[in-house]
Amino acid sequence: MTSFRPDDMPAQASPAALRGLIESRRAVRRFSAEAIPDAVIRDCLELAVLAPNSCNLQPWSFQVIRDPALLARLHPVCMSQNAAKAPLIIAVLARPDTWRQACQDIITYWPEPEVPARIRSFYRKTAPFQYNQGPFGVLGFFKRQLLRVAALRKPLMRSPNSHAQMAIWAVKSTALAAQNLMLAFQSHGYATCPMEGFDEVRLRKTLAIPRQAIPIMLLAVGRQTEKGVYNPRLRFPLEQHVTWL
Ligand SMILES: Cc1cc2nc3c(=O)[nH]c(=O)nc-3n(C[C@H](O)[C@H](O)[C@H](O)COP(=O)(O)O)c2cc1C
Repeated sequence: MTSFRPDDMPAQASPAALRGLIESRRAVRRFSAEAIPDAVIRDCLELAVLAPNSCNLQPWSFQVIRDPALLARLHPVCMSQNAAKAPLIIAVLARPDTWRQACQDIITYWPEPEVPARIRSFYRKTAPFQYNQGPFGVLGFFKRQLLRVAALRKPLMRSPNSHAQMAIWAVKSTALAAQNLMLAFQSHGYATCPMEGFDEVRLRKTLAIPRQAIPIMLLAVGRQTEKGVYNPRLRFPLEQHVTWL
């Protein structure tokens, strides 16, 4: 008989609880000055990084900005928008540049005494081949040509095989972590607003963001105050977006 560890068990959260949490989240633009305890921030970040992510390479990083002086400098960088007056802003960064270290970290942090051979082989050989695009993307270019021919015979993954595709690769996983982060704060009673309304050049300077990191959004976090939500909820009819096959 197969034995199951708790890790393998299906989730037990009730659909109603999950619906309640997701439905209660709105983009909030007005916050009180109340600080968010570091323990809450840490708890939410722990849940953020439980997001599914490509090959478990966890291509993300987060800058937690609580310092009032730095927040004040960020406000004009965020086009002086209301949401950016929050007592906490988290810069959510996609990291197409960290896969090499992550391949090593998988081996280092493997949660069992022995790293299975297939895992070692994947992160030492397959993944580096898959993600290395070489200087100026030259290797990616050659991989694309090779794939074009090889894929005539059988289905093959076509990407990421360029620096542009690596950016998309990292952004996908990081966006999932950002959503986890928002829902986690929501579960603690804090509101959030994702923001892409910022001057990226000034943001990079202000936060000393590494050149290859991609700031996908800034997350404003705080206690919602009156008129914090600007508009009623609006979503298009589901039929408009869904095809049942
Ligand atoms: C990637 C992204 C960027 C956003 N940027 C901003 C922003 O800069 N300022 C803002 O007030 N809201 C911003 N929003 C919030 C959206 O306007 C909001 O999510 C949308 O109108 C739907 O409203 P709801 O989240 O309350 O359901 C952003 C949302 C996302 C996902």
